Amino acid sequence: EEIEKPFVEIKWDAAAAEKDGYEHFMMKEIHEQPRAVRDTLSPRIKENESGERYIDLSETGLTDEDFTNVSRVYLIGCGSAYHVGMAARYVLEKAARVPCEVDLASEFRYRDPILEESGLVIIISQSGETADTLAAMRIAQEKGAKVIGIVNVENSTIAQECKNVVLTKAGREIAVATTKAYSAQLAVVYALAIRLSEADGAISRREAAELVEELKSIPDKIEAILSDAEKIKPFADIADQSDYICFIGRGVDYCAAMEASLKLKEISYIPCEAYAAGELKHGPIALIENGVIVIGIITNKNLVEKTISNIQEVITRGAKTLIITNQILPNNNFGYVINIPETNELISPILSVIPLQLLSYYISKNKGLDVDKPRNLAKSVTVE
Ligand code: BG6
Repeated sequence: EEIEKPFVEIKWDAAAAEKDGYEHFMMKEIHEQPRAVRDTLSPRIKENESGERYIDLSETGLTDEDFTNVSRVYLIGCGSAYHVGMAARYVLEKAARVPCEVDLASEFRYRDPILEESGLVIIISQSGETADTLAAMRIAQEKGAKVIGIVNVENSTIAQECKNVVLTKAGREIAVATTKAYSAQLAVVYALAIRLSEADGAISRREAAELVEELKSIPDKIEAILSDAEKIKPFADIADQSDYICFIGRGVDYCAAMEASLKLKEISYIPCEAYAAGELKHGPIALIENGVIVIGIITNKNLVEKTISNIQEVITRGAKTLIITNQILPNNNFGYVINIPETNELISPILSVIPLQLLSYYISKNKGLDVDKPRNLAKSVTVE
């Protein structure tokens, strides 16, 4: 039956249409993270007959046997992918009790690495085309290692040449500074850590099921942070004229600090660095003076007071501070505090990085810079 549909003129041009009304692809992709993580996890989370959820990575072609006797894990990537490897190491060593090494691909490829016979090499790359990462994968394969590729682009070179692949389902990522692909990669390495932990008996099926439940709750928790995205804006207005910003954290918070520092560097061009909070007193604190911005990440209840004392040290030296936390702080004269939802402390980088992605975005926008295509950078560096 024919119906009459009123014409509606779409004001967007093609690019704007692709941006879904966001001003920049980066902001759109920041907001796509709940879906990117959900789409990446859901095909890998199965339910057994007793209703317990578990991680199924059989698509990689790796068998139970492959996961059972892994003697060491090697995590390799560049940029944000390297930070995913850093975050994965804490989970793998704590939960799966498997020793890990994390390498920048550009270093791994030239150091003639020693790989254990029953080691597992995890190659992490959003584009699957990064020259250094591709070279590192080929070296690992030449050395006869078992290699898993975590990539976001299905028919990329790494995806084609790697025998065992886990695809992140973040969808096409346009902004040079990665956000949704980074979060989706974290989701995969956390799933991998649960799978390995259960296979080698480091955790029970029930403990694994509990970790899977926590992982399943992450998209909603990211959503909750994004629903208050503008909360960090006032701090961006304070920080956007800084000429030096320092991120600090302990444990996995240090990994999140590394990623936050790279994000800010990439799109605001402000010199910034991430330090292990405990390292501050061994040099970096010499950089702290009036007006320096220090951003602390605190998600481990056992490390609150240690990192808070670092924050107090820098405040007495004139720093302006921001804390990203899901812990109760002793009091609140620590400058800005952004609270994020609680989660298992081993996987908190997938949440603590979100407000800092937003902070980088707002600072870059305040400075009138090209958020999606920052100077000198490429989405994928396919040459050395
Ligand atoms: C850099 C990008 O060129 O390459 C980073 O600017 C990215 O955002 C890094 O993390 C690694 O890229 P890929 O595609 O191998 O993950």
